[in-house]
Parts: sequence; structure tokens; C-alpha cells
Amino acid sequence: MIDRADRLKRLPPYLFQEIDRLKAELMAQGVDVINLGVGDPDLPTPKHIIEELNKAARDPANHQYPSYSGMNDFKGCVARWYRRRFGVELDADSEVLTLIGSKEGIAHLPLAFINPGDLALVPSPAYPVYHITTMFAGGESYFMPLSRENGFLPDLGKIPADIARKAKMIFINYPNNPTGATAERDFFLKVIDFAREYGVAVCHDAAYTEMAFDGYRPMSFLEVPGAKEVGIEFHSLSKTYNMTGWRLGFAVGNAGMINGLGQVKSNIDSGAFNAVQFAGIAALEGDQCCVAEMQGIYQERRDALIRGLRRINLNAGLPKATFYVWCPIPGKYKSREFTTLLLREAGIVTTPGSGFGEPGEGYVRMALTVSKERIEEAVRRMQKIAF
Ligand SMILES: Cc1ncc(COP(=O)(O)O)c(C=O)c1O
Repeated sequence: MIDRADRLKRLPPYLFQEIDRLKAELMAQGVDVINLGVGDPDLPTPKHIIEELNKAARDPANHQYPSYSGMNDFKGCVARWYRRRFGVELDADSEVLTLIGSKEGIAHLPLAFINPGDLALVPSPAYPVYHITTMFAGGESYFMPLSRENGFLPDLGKIPADIARKAKMIFINYPNNPTGATAERDFFLKVIDFAREYGVAVCHDAAYTEMAFDGYRPMSFLEVPGAKEVGIEFHSLSKTYNMTGWRLGFAVGNAGMINGLGQVKSNIDSGAFNAVQFAGIAALEGDQCCVAEMQGIYQERRDALIRGLRRINLNAGLPKATFYVWCPIPGKYKSREFTTLLLREAGIVTTPGSGFGEPGEGYVRMALTVSKERIEEAVRRMQKIAF
């Protein structure tokens, strides 16, 4: 056996192992498991997007290697979408980069800017990729705790000055996975001031800006003056158009950072399939009724789950965006224990908050990725457990 590299040995233990094992065991016994664990839309990709893929896939011109940085047509479409959606001007050539899903770009970014021993500021709880890929690049993470008291926003004033001076990058993510929290202009302004003062590059993960409810429209970090001088923003078609399997996203913003990320990518991958980029154009420029429909569906599910949870004294906040409910659990349980209890007693899969970082202890994350009827069924089952 070849000995694995230290970076793999440093990975935290796979937290979902026990849940996956238990889930498989229950399903083998014929238990009807309700999966609120994974953030993967259950709704299909809209038809007009599939049709465009069909058409583009038949064109031999699309069968060769794509351009490393993305098709000009797709990058132009992204720039137009940014103008329409956020009022932000982008140069399609130097300020837009096509990604094979936003995870791919986020994961490669530290390879462009983190040297061994460099520090990245990483929220906790958070999407695990920020921390892991910093580690893969040889860097260290300084964790910024997110708590209910600070609205699940990092308190930049609490970062010690020597840490801030040493930091090379800061990751932020709003609307937020796993907490469902949102950020406004005043927070982004603070981030830009901080980035300027300490020379830190900002990476804003904006995968969920289109998954928002009650008419709320999350803003782009790039709408705030000065943002483009200090950072980039990641977007994804995955959640907006139910395209997680298609692998299409993009990074936009600071030309130097976009170029650095592009340089890493050109040595690792060979770009996103052109036919998928054509389908992406159909998604971003086609009828947006499908987005409104998606928002309506998740809003109904969210309301059903929050209503049900409150009836059993689990007082989760109402997320204005994302398809995650960040639910505080009774104090006598650890989040892993509570997750196991829900699975064993009610056949419901949830994700323990501690899996996203220690400050996530005391919560479980529930994804709104099953129908409203199944959510109501999940709540009925939870009611029967004596917490
Ligand atoms: C916060 C966040 N960022 C990025 C991603 C990655 O999305 P994709 O690679 O499908 O674009 C996810 C997926 O769950 C996510 O939750």
C-alpha cells in the first residue's frame, strides 16, 4: 500500500460515517427514511435548459476541449446577468471565469494565493471546503466563530491584529450554509475596510443569492464600492436552476485574483463542457419563472418545517434565504447525539451542527429537499419523540 500524503492524514474524521451506516441499516430493515441531510435540490432542471444541452451536445464543434477560462459567450452572459441582477459592471474577459461548479473554484483558490504557513480567515460553522483546501495548500485556518448573538456574521473586530496582519485571505458566505443567515451592505463595507487595512483577499461564496424568500433579494458583495479592489465572488447554477449534477459555476471580481485562479485551473482541468455552458446561457438568459417557482416551493416547505418545529419547542429562526433550517436542539444533547436520535427514533436524516465546526454544536441542519408532505410527515414523527 502506498502511504497517503500528510494532507489526507490531516483530514478530520468523516463525521457522517456513523449516520450513513445507521441510515443504510434502517433502510435495509425497510424503514421509510426522510432525508433532510443533503443540500441537493430534489426538483428537476427546467426543461428549456435540458433542451439547450441536447442541442449543443449534438454540435461537433462542442466536442473538443473547451477554453480554459470559459466560453466568451458564457462569460459575456454572466457579465450581463450581473448588470441586470446586481447593477454591477464586469469585464467579461478579465473579471469572469467559468468554473466546473463553484466548489471547484473555491477549492483551487488557495493554491493560487496561499503559501505553506500562510493564514486564511475561515468562518465556523461553515461549508467545509474553505478550511480543507486551505490546508491542502499548506496554509492554516484561523476560525471566526459565527453565533446567533452576532447574527451568524464574523466579528472582525475580535480578530487579533497580529492574526489579521498575517492573514492572506478571508472566506465569507452569504446567504450562509449552514445557518441560513444573510448579510447586508454594512457588513460587506466592514469586510472591505478590513481587507484594505490588512491587505487580505476576500473570497465571497454567493452560491445561494437566488434562493431567497418573501421577496427578499440578497445583494452581491461586488455591489459595494471598493469590493472589486479586494476580492472575488463565487456563484453557482447548481441551486438556482437545480443543476447540481451539471457542474457549472463562475467566479467574478478582482482581475488579478481571477487571473491567478485561472492559472491554477489551466494546469489542472480543461474547462467546463461547452454544451453545459450553452445550457448555462439558456438558464441565465431564459425565462426566470422557474426561479420564482423554486423560491415559492422552498418557502412553503420552510414555513411547514418551522411551524412544526415550533410546535415541539424547537425554535429555529426563519431563514430569509437558502434551503437550510438551522435548528437549535435541547441543551441536554450534543448535536451528533440528537441527529442519531432523530434517525433511530423517527427515520429522519439531519446533519449535526458540529460537523460544520465546533461553534455549530447545539444545532442540527435540516435541508428543505423533500416535499412539503414529507416535511409534515417528518414533523409528525418528531412530535412522537420525548426530547
Ligand atoms: C456554501 C456553498 N458553496 C458552494 C457550494 C458548491 O456548489 P457547486 O459546486 O455545486 O456550485 C455549496 C454546495 O452545497 C455550498 O453549500
